[in-house]
Amino acid sequence: MIIMGINYNSDKRIFHIQGKDVSYVIKANEYNDLIHLYYGKKIRHINDEAINTTKARTWSVIPTGSKDKYGIDSALLEYPTFGHTDFRNPALHIEQESGSTVVELKYHGYEIFKGKKGLEGLPATYGNEEEAETLEITLRDEVIDIYVVLSYTVLTGTNIITRSSKIINKGKETLKILSAQSCCVDFKESDYEMLQLSGAWARERNMMKRKLVQGVQSIGSVRGTSSHVHNPFLALLSPDSTENQGEVYGFNFVYSGNFIGEVSVCEHNRTRVLMGIHPMNFSWELREQDSFQTPEVVMAYSHEGLNGMSQEYHGVYKENLVRGTWKHKERPILINSWEATYFDFTRESIEGLARKASEAGIELCVLDDGWFGKRNDDKTSLGDWYVNKTKLDGSVETLAKNVEAMDMSFGLWFEPEMISPDSDLYREHSDWCIHVPNRSRIETRNQLVLDFARQEVCDYIIDVVSKVLSSAPISYVKWDMNRYLTDVMSMSLPAHRQMETSHRYCLGLYYVMEELVTRHKDVLFEGCSGGGGRFDPGILYYMPQIWASDDTDAIERLKIQYATSIVYPINTMGSHVSSVPNHIVERSTPLETRGNVAMSGNLGYELDITNYNEEEMNELKEQINFYKANRQLIQFGDFFRINNPFTDNRASWVFVSKDQTEAVLFNIAILGMPNPHDQQMKFVGLNPEFDYEIEGVEGIFGGDELMNLGLTLPVLKDYQSVRYKLRKI
Ligand code: DGJ
Repeated sequence: MIIMGINYNSDKRIFHIQGKDVSYVIKANEYNDLIHLYYGKKIRHINDEAINTTKARTWSVIPTGSKDKYGIDSALLEYPTFGHTDFRNPALHIEQESGSTVVELKYHGYEIFKGKKGLEGLPATYGNEEEAETLEITLRDEVIDIYVVLSYTVLTGTNIITRSSKIINKGKETLKILSAQSCCVDFKESDYEMLQLSGAWARERNMMKRKLVQGVQSIGSVRGTSSHVHNPFLALLSPDSTENQGEVYGFNFVYSGNFIGEVSVCEHNRTRVLMGIHPMNFSWELREQDSFQTPEVVMAYSHEGLNGMSQEYHGVYKENLVRGTWKHKERPILINSWEATYFDFTRESIEGLARKASEAGIELCVLDDGWFGKRNDDKTSLGDWYVNKTKLDGSVETLAKNVEAMDMSFGLWFEPEMISPDSDLYREHSDWCIHVPNRSRIETRNQLVLDFARQEVCDYIIDVVSKVLSSAPISYVKWDMNRYLTDVMSMSLPAHRQMETSHRYCLGLYYVMEELVTRHKDVLFEGCSGGGGRFDPGILYYMPQIWASDDTDAIERLKIQYATSIVYPINTMGSHVSSVPNHIVERSTPLETRGNVAMSGNLGYELDITNYNEEEMNELKEQINFYKANRQLIQFGDFFRINNPFTDNRASWVFVSKDQTEAVLFNIAILGMPNPHDQQMKFVGLNPEFDYEIEGVEGIFGGDELMNLGLTLPVLKDYQSVRYKLRKI
């Protein structure tokens, strides 16, 4: 019998959260400390006496009144605070009117219920009474009378547990939160590797691993966005883990602003994982009766390696994070004007591009940057969201209708969070940007960031963007964001609350996004931030897909897409074929390989195809037809990584239909090899009992044969690729 859900043993005061194959166990002990007992492969029950982490060591500071050398300085704790015998970094740090930051949280009570509550103003996974069960544990500091509600939700049929915390001030003091992490998980041992997805613009989310050592290892962002540099994700991997085996614990922050993911190992080899809003330049005033809700962390457990963890994230993000009309709908194949024309276009040239795209079977034409205000380069007009009628020789409506007449839909680019100093909006409201009044404004890329911590700024943007969307048949929006936040200060806040600005900016951003996606519910929104600078689950709650990177080179994309898939489903990744030599790395790759890589995501094209000859057009049509025939499988099937381009001289992955009757495998060579060895492809995710035929290959193959013996691949030269379509016979 599979037992799932949340169970409370009132004799031992033990909470046992059980997912499909996972257990998470917490205890309120005799000192009313909330102790963590276990997180790992599912167990039926726990003998808490056996897991004793609360033994004081030599030089431990022992709390007054404790018996039998009870101490918490190396105990596993659920929500530690600072200053009261635990010297590790805390989950909560609060300054009180006296100046003290000592807080002592004690167990106060609990509630277990079916379903999952939303987090006000914040993105989060969701689940109804059949899909989720929630445990809320309340802790209390009796001196200042604050309550902390820790939420744990297990999503039915998964190994996902979500976490968040809420701090409620029921006392008389005005408090200042200096840090409120969304989750803390203490592990008994430290024999793990930490995996992070880090990089920079145009090489976002590279896989990086390091062995844990005593001290703190962390990732984070103080750039105002989750950023290109570190994705808000980390995982702990057992030393034997691979793509398909070993224990993996993933932590992913559902937030788009400053964050920290921190793993520390203490002197007694305990490992602490903290994840939440970055405490740097953060504080939050909490008056009497105020509460503060932290964003959510999604924790995924797998004992089947990284592929197992990815299955967990993919499933839950597709079903319990992404919302709206496009949640289960196939995403259109698009052509985007950016790398085709940059700012240099006319209505005629866009219509020419659309005509050729329509001939190839492309379904959506997206007009990128440059259609509004006086914008012919990146120096002006952000904020002036009205069409440049001279450049477009008429309205957006005319263009959109002309595109529709070609049997395609039409989409438009916006950068709603920005303002150009050279814009009508700035001339009217020069104080609407984030800035420090007595300092010069940093105009990187000739733009400043609008102060979304201010209600009137948010409302203005909702209004102007909404007007454009209602003015024409616009079925897609690319929402860009092209700079980090500096000089962070909001004119709407008093001096002592300025460190709330970055979080308030995020709350404002979510408010604007919620409003726009609700008003324009059939529009497909795609997030973007100079490529993949804000590829996080916070954005995915509002926008079902995100432009993965400005780097469209097929070989660079192998790493970006491979590593992005560690957490994020394939149908959240915008992925385009562009021209060669590639505009960023100047590499030339075959059109076939560019197609194979781009169709391993939400396929699009971003190049000038107006001069494509018949042969090239035929190749394009072949790619598009193949993608259309297999789109359901690619966008909504299961995805398994096979060969890792960070370590191998190739990348390969396979999409398998839910019923395992169909699969598509892609194998892309990085460099060719002289006098090459045979390359064997061992499939993953097939049904061992099924027999399959493979298009273009003689014979019938057992699923077990393909997964164990494998398929012999042809020899590939530099950047060549092959794709196989399998069908159960
Ligand atoms: C950055 C985006 O990532 C690009 O795709 C493009 O939209 C430009 N901005 C336009 O300015």
